[in-house]
Amino acid sequence: MAETLEQVTLRVNGTTRQLRVPARRLLSDALRHDLRLTGTHVGCEHGVCGCCTVLLDGDPVRSCLMFAVSAEGHELTTVEGLTPRDGDELHPIQRSFQECHGLQCGFCTPGFIMSIAGLLADNPDPDEDEIVEGISGNLCRCTGYRNIIRAVQRAAELLRAAESEAPGADDPSPHGAATTTSVSVPYAPSGADDHDATGDEGSAR
Ligand code: FES
Ligand code: FES
Repeated sequence: MAETLEQVTLRVNGTTRQLRVPARRLLSDALRHDLRLTGTHVGCEHGVCGCCTVLLDGDPVRSCLMFAVSAEGHELTTVEGLTPRDGDELHPIQRSFQECHGLQCGFCTPGFIMSIAGLLADNPDPDEDEIVEGISGNLCRCTGYRNIIRAVQRAAELLRAAESEAPGADDPSPHGAATTTSVSVPYAPSGADDHDATGDEGSAR
């Protein structure tokens, strides 16, 4: 008997996407296979490695432990959503991984980047213990973590510098850029609009 499909509306990287998927479709599979957002990697598929981490309403979650239908009504950000759709510029977290040699094979990297995006949105100036705690849910087989910690420290510097240069950064009001800008927002894709699951969301980074 054919499996019943559910109509699901997801907000991904600022764009509304419509899918028809089985109720048991994992969010990681919906992102990778239905929306072609293959920057979200899948390793263990049972919540251990952190490769599949995305932001759900700004908080890092493991997309292999969620059903796609459970993400309806939430804002999702994948690694593709950190960079402008029309630009080659890397997000400061990606740039810091490059500068600090925070990756080797790179398989774990998108998951680390999304965990770090959540960490730095909550805590723009973490000390080393807080960084270690913040990345403790992500596994890397290659780097030994030292350079990843350096990359987080460098990313925090770059993001704080970007915040202080942003228009309205000195505005103490709740509407000032310094209080309304999160890690993902300064590099959010421009021209976000509505697409169905066949829309081209851009390539994985
Ligand atoms: S693939 Fe999701 S935690 Fe490993
Ligand atoms: S860079 Fe290879 S697993 Fe982390």
